[in-house]
Amino acid sequence: MRVCIFGTGYVGLVTGTCLADVGHDVVCVDIDAGKVERLNAGVIPIFEPGLTPMVQANHAAGRLRFTTDAAQGIAHGDVVFIAVGTPSDEDGSADLSYVLAVARSIGQSMQAPLVVVNKSTVPVGTADKVRAAISDVLAQRGIDIAFDVVSNPEFLKEGAAVEDCMRPDRIVIGANNPTAIEMLKRLYAPFNRNHDRIVSMDVRSAELTKYAANAMLATKISFMNEIANIAEQVGADVEMVRKGIGSDPRIGWHFIYPGAGYGGSCFPKDVQALAKTAQQFGVRPRLLDAVEAVNAAQKEHLFELMVRHYGSVEALHGKTVALWGLAFKPNTDDMREASSRRLLQRLWDAGATVRAYDPEAMPETRRIYGERVDLVLCDFAEAALHGADALVVITEWKQFRSPDFAKLATRLADAVVFDGRNLYAPDEVETAGLAYYGIGRGR
Ligand code: UGA
Repeated sequence: MRVCIFGTGYVGLVTGTCLADVGHDVVCVDIDAGKVERLNAGVIPIFEPGLTPMVQANHAAGRLRFTTDAAQGIAHGDVVFIAVGTPSDEDGSADLSYVLAVARSIGQSMQAPLVVVNKSTVPVGTADKVRAAISDVLAQRGIDIAFDVVSNPEFLKEGAAVEDCMRPDRIVIGANNPTAIEMLKRLYAPFNRNHDRIVSMDVRSAELTKYAANAMLATKISFMNEIANIAEQVGADVEMVRKGIGSDPRIGWHFIYPGAGYGGSCFPKDVQALAKTAQQFGVRPRLLDAVEAVNAAQKEHLFELMVRHYGSVEALHGKTVALWGLAFKPNTDDMREASSRRLLQRLWDAGATVRAYDPEAMPETRRIYGERVDLVLCDFAEAALHGADALVVITEWKQFRSPDFAKLATRLADAVVFDGRNLYAPDEVETAGLAYYGIGRGR
């Protein structure tokens, strides 16, 4: 099938590449000419395992092209995806200006019937707005062309996006017209072998499904962080509690890891946007507000543990802190809403210097913070320890999982480790002569 995708960000690029990989003919449109040029040259703007060779192979095979020419993309596609960003507005609601700008350009250029697919994470009711925007422009042009607007939310995890796209656990298709559903079923047929993963429904339910999925996962995390805070005070170990509850299949093992709070481009933004939608429709989002509040507090927790250890905020003045991890989670260079950013700010405000290392996010850190005297960007994990007083681990990259604790004890002047992801066994760390602080480990 002939597909056009608007937006070569995370979602658009991965979706377009995977659709091309199963044989569809894909044109991706982006307004950023430099990015389009780089993509056509095989240079991928994001770090995502497996993506670069896939883009290059499909581009070379002629099934995947990049252009700034919206009209060309629209003329090409029987199906046109909208996969542009929906950043948070000042008030937490999703900013639809990019989505609606694409809708208008579809209206301006379309010459034949097509199916418009909303892939961006958009509030309930957006499909109606997209439909209205396209219709308005068609009316201005004085023509009437049939089109459908479908909601087809993505469930890609950064760091595993290609895998998630090629082997989805479900494909949600929301459309009010059965013909549009059939068209998308044909498009996704190569991903839907062995057993049926397609869940079709009405448009509004599909739009809400996306937010419900992310809000449920964020709720699990905030719940566990709250249990961790209780564990810390009552003298229990949340890691034991996690194992104790995860074995109940109704609870499950996934997304019950306490930590330094959730970050990334999705959970914080989506929880807020869903709460906003609830309010707009007259529902008070008590639980969502609490999920958000717990997370905001959790992002302060590592710093609070440091203050507890050193006795006061002032005592951190002049300290050098080694920080392992900057990305909001492993296998990505993304630092949007990363817990590391809150911690960096707190440490700097307290007058500490940070020696930081992340396997992928160093260029991003440099881009965000530039040159600062109180930030030393290190080329490898060991280097961050040079001259450091304490170590904080905030992202659970594999390479941070089993350091030589005896060596750490000799390197860190204050012999203390703050483990923001509960990677280490407290006894092992303490036996090496280090003080240990984890999340919810009050044993
Ligand atoms: C999330 C969802 O997992 C995807 O299904 C969804 O498609 C995506 O958002 C989206 O809406 O586009 P992502 O933001 O890439 O994916 O990352 P996650 O792996 O979900 O992690 C989010 C945050 O939660 C990270 O900061 C992570 O450290 C934290 N987390 C996760 C925990 O603190 N504890 C856990 O048990 C799991």
